Amino acid sequence: MIYEKIKKRRSIRKFTQKEIRGDILTKCVDAARLSPSGKNRQPLIFVIVNDEQLLERVFNTTSWAGYLPNYYPTKEEMPRAYVIILVDKNIRQDCGHDCGIAAMSISMVAYENNLGSCILGALDRLKLRSILNIPENCKISLAVALGYPAEEPIIDKVRKNDIKYWLDKEGKLHVPKRRLEEIMTWNAFPNHSAS
Ligand SMILES: Cc1cc2nc3c(=O)[nH]c(=O)nc-3n(C[C@H](O)[C@H](O)[C@H](O)COP(=O)(O)O)c2cc1C
Repeated sequence: MIYEKIKKRRSIRKFTQKEIRGDILTKCVDAARLSPSGKNRQPLIFVIVNDEQLLERVFNTTSWAGYLPNYYPTKEEMPRAYVIILVDKNIRQDCGHDCGIAAMSISMVAYENNLGSCILGALDRLKLRSILNIPENCKISLAVALGYPAEEPIIDKVRKNDIKYWLDKEGKLHVPKRRLEEIMTWNAFPNHSAS
């Protein structure tokens, strides 16, 4: 049930150090490969990182949970793999919406395989390019961090329009989501005629 899985998936920022099987990682990227692409141009290239030494170096290019300065994976909670999403500029200058769609496909197939994931946009791209030897024609779009979850964030209500995720007394992460009625309308907006 895709709806149930989407409802339950949360970004995971703390991972166990259990190794991820290569075929699961390949499956995640295969799902991204088969995802919708504007004009079907398919400009995306994917780098799977799971080499022990590279994992630590890539980790040093990432930033976590901007609203909570002290909430990030420790060395013992680091992701066990990354999928780096690149855009081949020889095919398209920018990825349009393809990168986000691909990142979600990766996250959902990961989730179906009991993995946690976190899409990462805050990256030191210069450093990452040099570490992974990424060619000039490839733009670094997003990374998806992967690993077996060592936390269970909770979905919550947005209170007083505050969308920042927060930690409770037990250190559990709460992720506020806006209410459906707040963000959805049927057919047209109600008439806001000038009064
Ligand atoms: C495009 C994009 C970039 C993101 N970049 C980061 C990031 O750099 N670091 C991070 O910790 N989380 C990042 N996130 C995760 C969001 O913070 C997270 O999706 C949001 O707080 C909602 O939580 P949820 O995914 O559990 O629903 C990113 C998510 C998206 C979609």
